[in-house]
Amino acid sequence: MFNRRTSVKALFNLIPENQEVIVMGWVRSFRNNQFISLNDGSTSTNLQVVVPLDKFPEDQIKLISTGTSVSVSGSLVSSIGSGQHIEVIAQELIILGESDPNKYPLQPKKHSLEFLREIAHLRLRTNTFGSIFRIRHQLAFSIHKFFHENNFFYFHTPIITASDAEGAGEMFQVTTLPINNAPTEDGQINYAEDFFSKKTHLTVSGQLEGELAATALGNIYTFGPTFRAENSNTSRHLAEFWMIEPEMAFYDLDDNMLLAENFIKYVITDVLTNCLDDLKLLEKRLIDEEQKLPQDQRSKSSLIIKLESVVTETFERVSYTEVIDILKSSSYYKKKKFKYDVEWGTDLQSEHERYLVEKHFNKPVIVYNYPKDIKAFYMRLNDDEKTVAAMDILVPGIGELVGGSQREERYDKLSNRMEAMHINSHELSWYLDTRRFGSVPHAGFGLGFERLVQFVTGMGNIRDVI
Ligand code: 4AD
Ligand code: MG
Repeated sequence: MFNRRTSVKALFNLIPENQEVIVMGWVRSFRNNQFISLNDGSTSTNLQVVVPLDKFPEDQIKLISTGTSVSVSGSLVSSIGSGQHIEVIAQELIILGESDPNKYPLQPKKHSLEFLREIAHLRLRTNTFGSIFRIRHQLAFSIHKFFHENNFFYFHTPIITASDAEGAGEMFQVTTLPINNAPTEDGQINYAEDFFSKKTHLTVSGQLEGELAATALGNIYTFGPTFRAENSNTSRHLAEFWMIEPEMAFYDLDDNMLLAENFIKYVITDVLTNCLDDLKLLEKRLIDEEQKLPQDQRSKSSLIIKLESVVTETFERVSYTEVIDILKSSSYYKKKKFKYDVEWGTDLQSEHERYLVEKHFNKPVIVYNYPKDIKAFYMRLNDDEKTVAAMDILVPGIGELVGGSQREERYDKLSNRMEAMHINSHELSWYLDTRRFGSVPHAGFGLGFERLVQFVTGMGNIRDVI
């Protein structure tokens, strides 16, 4: 380490021999004017610091309460008390920052997630959020590790862009023009006078630029923030989220699905190996929370068993057309339990996706070959001319975790499709160049990072993992 303190996590791996250690952290609770439960964020387990009676002045002891930050030097010994195997006997104790117990909103008790969302700036100091964000880190690290080990290059795509990669028009505009007094020409805002001399937005996806890189470097991935001005008032949508987008030259849809499934299994295995304490804490939280729900609304298996089964089971693969048949012959459909109708050609609603993964297959499902009219312009047209080589990965509790496709690499087919969908091919001529010069079959997908964190931590609301 680069400074004098030992992290609590590192302390738990030491053999106690009365050696001198320095620990720093925040007081979670202070019992009997003698026992500090200290947390420094390195692990969910608190360190017991014993404050010998009469060793420190009373007015210093008075300042120790939940939230106070302290630096303690003392000796590391085996603990005779129950609940911990080591403890630190304080020889020196410095109050780094006081925390008025009458004003500090976090108390050593269970707070509801709703309450914590109101003090989101402090919630990182709770056990639940500590665990979530340590897991979020592990996932991010494992994602880079997976791609690096498989010879993918990490490629950075623009955040400010002029292109609407998804063609869905759900973009936040970026401008330096005065909002109430923008320059106009022929009654229209004159973007020639804007910062970039054209209309620009925050990116909704790095895919199109990722394709430029894949058709030069082979296999690449992006991992960065993306923005969508869509209805984000659900427990699975954010206006700002992080996305991982691998893009591979010479891959078809099957290769793409194989990569995505192995990628998900790899990162979940890593979390199971490296974050078991945090997972156990979140698993217990989930069980407690679900106690309030009727039996049939509780999770079928515990969090850790769910994650282990994702790693061992093969994801189910079904075509969109098969999904429509499954839904139409379900008892749910016959009993009119779906709010939205099921008809070939319409997009699957989240109730349909959840029925499929939670009731019908009870494991992750890859749905492929969707009708072309409900998918983006860049997806490869299948020989039936009605469907495209798209795939979505659906998981229990979340629904869509991954969306991807084989890309249309045939110049004529792509430009026809763009024309039919009123996409300006002049604006995207740089994109079309990849099809004009040495075009190759290629494919890729996007995985929503917060949805992955949500799935792994078992959190019900996406706002609690970012
Ligand atoms: O399905 P989407 O829109 O696909 C794309 O953006 C493609 N360009 C990806 C690709 O092929 N390179 O988004 C991909 C994933 C979704 O499956 C979902 O997990 C996540 O991004 N996502 C969101 N996550 C949180 N909040 C939102 N508003 C999201 N919109 C999409
Ligand atoms: Mg999608």
